[in-house]
Amino acid sequence: MNLPETHPLIDGRTSDAVLLRSYRGERTPIVPVWFMRQAGRSLPEYRDLRVGTAMLDACLNPELASEITLQPVRRHAVDAGIFFSDIVVPIKLAGVDVDIVPGRGPVLGSPIRSAADVAALRPLDPEALAPITEGVARTVAELGKTPLIGFAGAPFTLAAYLVEGGPSKDHLRARALMHSDPTTWAALLDWAADVTGAFLRAQILAGASAAQLFDSWVGSLSESNYRAFVAPHSARALSHVKDLGVPVVHFGIGTAELLPAMHEVGADVMGVDYRLPLDEANRRLGGTVPLQGNIDPALLSAPWEVLEKHVLDVLRRGEAAPAHVVNLGHGVPPETDPAVLSRIVELVHSYA
Ligand code: CP3
Repeated sequence: MNLPETHPLIDGRTSDAVLLRSYRGERTPIVPVWFMRQAGRSLPEYRDLRVGTAMLDACLNPELASEITLQPVRRHAVDAGIFFSDIVVPIKLAGVDVDIVPGRGPVLGSPIRSAADVAALRPLDPEALAPITEGVARTVAELGKTPLIGFAGAPFTLAAYLVEGGPSKDHLRARALMHSDPTTWAALLDWAADVTGAFLRAQILAGASAAQLFDSWVGSLSESNYRAFVAPHSARALSHVKDLGVPVVHFGIGTAELLPAMHEVGADVMGVDYRLPLDEANRRLGGTVPLQGNIDPALLSAPWEVLEKHVLDVLRRGEAAPAHVVNLGHGVPPETDPAVLSRIVELVHSYA
C-alpha cells in the first residue's frame, strides 16, 4: 500500500470498518450500507446549501463539497461517505468546455468526434486537482472512523458524454465511432482513462479508503465489444491506483452479461444494478466476489411493507456472496423521502 502514513487505512481509523472488511470479502456482524447519490437533492439541507451555486462550482469548492458529503452520513448513519463531485469534474479540470445542466446532466460546448478533436485534448495538470485534494482531506478529517469512498467515471461512460455532447439514450454516436474509427476511439478512451485515473488517485491519496469506478452506461455494449473496445481502457484507468491497494468497486447499469468481464479489468467488488438478483450475480461471478447492491430505487416510494420485504429479499440473496454491502441498484431519485433511507439503514443494521 503506497499510502501516506496519515492515511486512515494506515493510521487505523478505517482499516477495520465493516465496509472495508466486507469489501475484502469478510463477513461482519452487521451488513454495511450506503447509497449511490446519497448526497444531493433528496436532502433539504443539500437544496439549501446549493442555492445560488452551480453544480460544478459546488464540486470545486472544498468547503461546500465536504459539507455536502457529510450531510447524508450524519442524517442516515450510513457506513460510508462518498465524495461529493461528478464524473465530469476531471474533464472540466483538463480544460474541456463542459457544464452540468440541472435536470439533464453533463453537456459539452462542442462534442469530441473527430481525430482532430481527440488530438486537441490536453492532459490533466495535476495541480488542477488541488480543490479535490483539499475537499477530500477536509471530509476525511471530519469522518473519523467512517470511511470515505472516492469515485470516478469509467472511460466508456465519459466517452458516451464526450462524443454525444450530452446525455443520450443508446449512445449511438459513441458506439458508431468505436466501430468506424477504432484508432480515434482508442486514443479518446486512453485520454479519458488517464484523466479519470488521476482524479481517483488524488482522492485516495488525500484520504479515501475505497474507490468506485462508475461505468453507468456500459450496459449498452455486447460482451465481445466490451472486451475488445473498452476493457483495456478501464484497466488503464484502474492502473493509476493499483499500487495504492484500496478496494475498488466496479458498477454499471444493465450489466448482467458483463459482470465477469468487468470484474476481470481489476475490480475487487462488483456493484450490481436492480435487474439481476444478487444470488444469480454471485453465480455468474463464480461465488468468489463480494457484491454491492441492489435495492430497486423505484421501491423507495412504495409502501414501507413492500419496500421492507424487498430489502429483506436483497439481504437474503446477498448471503450467497462471500460478502455483501447493501446499496441501491442505481442512484437515489431526487424525490425520495430521506426518512425512508434512514429507515432502510436501521433495517439493514438490525438484520442478523
Ligand atoms: O452522493 C453521491 O453519490 C456522490 C456524488 C455523485 C454525483 N454524481 C453528484 C451529482 C456521483 C458519484 C456522481 C456520478 C455520476 N455523474 C454518474 C455515475 C453514477 C450514475 O448515477 O450513473 C453519472 C452518469 C454522472 C453524470 C451526471 N451528473 C448526471 C446524469 C447528472 C444528473 C442530472 C440531473 O440534474 O438530474 C449529474 C448531476 C449531478 N451529479 C447531481 C448530483 C448531486 C445533480 C445536480 C444538482 O443537484 O443540481
